[in-house]
Amino acid sequence: MSARFIAVNQLRLDGNERRYLRECIDTGWISSEGPFVKKLETEFAAAVGRKWGVAVCNGSAALEASVAALRLGPGDEVIMPAFTIISCASAVTRAGAVPVLVDSDPDTWNMRVDQIAARITPRTRAIMVVHIYGLPAKMDQILELAAQHELKVIEDAAELHGGSCNCRPCGSFGDISIFSFYPNKHVTTGEGGMLVTDDDELAERCRSLRNLCFQPGRRFIHEELGWNLRMSNLQAAVGVAQLERLAETVRRKCAMGRLYTKLLADTPGIRLPATKTRYAENVYWVFGVVLDDTIPFDAAEAMRRLAARGIGTRPFFWPMHEQPVFQRMGLFGGERYPVAENLARRGFYVPSGIALTDEEIATVAAALKDILR
Ligand SMILES: Cc1ncc(COP(=O)(O)O)c(C=O)c1O
Repeated sequence: MSARFIAVNQLRLDGNERRYLRECIDTGWISSEGPFVKKLETEFAAAVGRKWGVAVCNGSAALEASVAALRLGPGDEVIMPAFTIISCASAVTRAGAVPVLVDSDPDTWNMRVDQIAARITPRTRAIMVVHIYGLPAKMDQILELAAQHELKVIEDAAELHGGSCNCRPCGSFGDISIFSFYPNKHVTTGEGGMLVTDDDELAERCRSLRNLCFQPGRRFIHEELGWNLRMSNLQAAVGVAQLERLAETVRRKCAMGRLYTKLLADTPGIRLPATKTRYAENVYWVFGVVLDDTIPFDAAEAMRRLAARGIGTRPFFWPMHEQPVFQRMGLFGGERYPVAENLARRGFYVPSGIALTDEEIATVAAALKDILR
């Protein structure tokens, strides 16, 4: 066992975070009314080439608000990947709409465009695109399909801060895009999220849904139900400091991904994330690995063996059609998505936090090779 446990995420808060937090405390601005919230909204939207940013309390809430903002509801179908976080399908089902799944591409782990096309029906209203683990989905083809069929596009870029697709920033595609600021993200606010859009009306609707649908002038009279999804000035202060060094963070994460790739390149029995595709470079939100069929154990066993060697890991997502909660709701009966199923059983990610050192990466890579021998 190595001397020190290597956690799956180690973050850095050594920029202006402390200074800006002190400013909140000194001025008494700690609620969502404080100036850092607006600053984060403006600067984050600019960073992804959008007109508007609407800060919220987490990425899952941003998905709920985007579904509500686009007025998706009963009778509507929303196409999304089977291989994603529950937040996507729960936002759609809670709105009374139906998630319709597609499988993943085995190389990029992102949703397959041919399957999106095959699943469009007269009830389809939207595509919820999710960029997975550092590589974006094929946005040009997805946007083309959406335009042909007059579908709305929600882009879940929770994991793709600083990523781009055909040289356009992730978060700039479709009607509305969302981000998460959880501590394992390239930009964190502890808990937090952001909706971004170019559409004035959608942005205003998101602001209203975030704030209980209070009405200007008639504050406590409500035409619609919203939520309290507000982000505090304290969270936004951390976010502004984090955003200041996003470019540096992306550079380091890419270097970490390259180092893992170099150290693990010839290891039999595992598949590594693609470093790039024709349309994008991997920004390595996390460094995921997938065990080949030649390995006689699954991801859960690999993670146990790594934990015994002092290495933290996380499993990959478990696909939506295999979620007991959705099966009980009568969704996805008998559907199979073999790539997603394989990723869930044989995929996991290794320590990928921004504070990880090259020496730690070498230790993790050596331990991984050791358990596969
Ligand atoms: C693709 C994706 N969407 C949405 C979310 C939800 O974000 P949050 O944890 O901030 O609610 C996550 C979280 O990691 C995610 O990976």
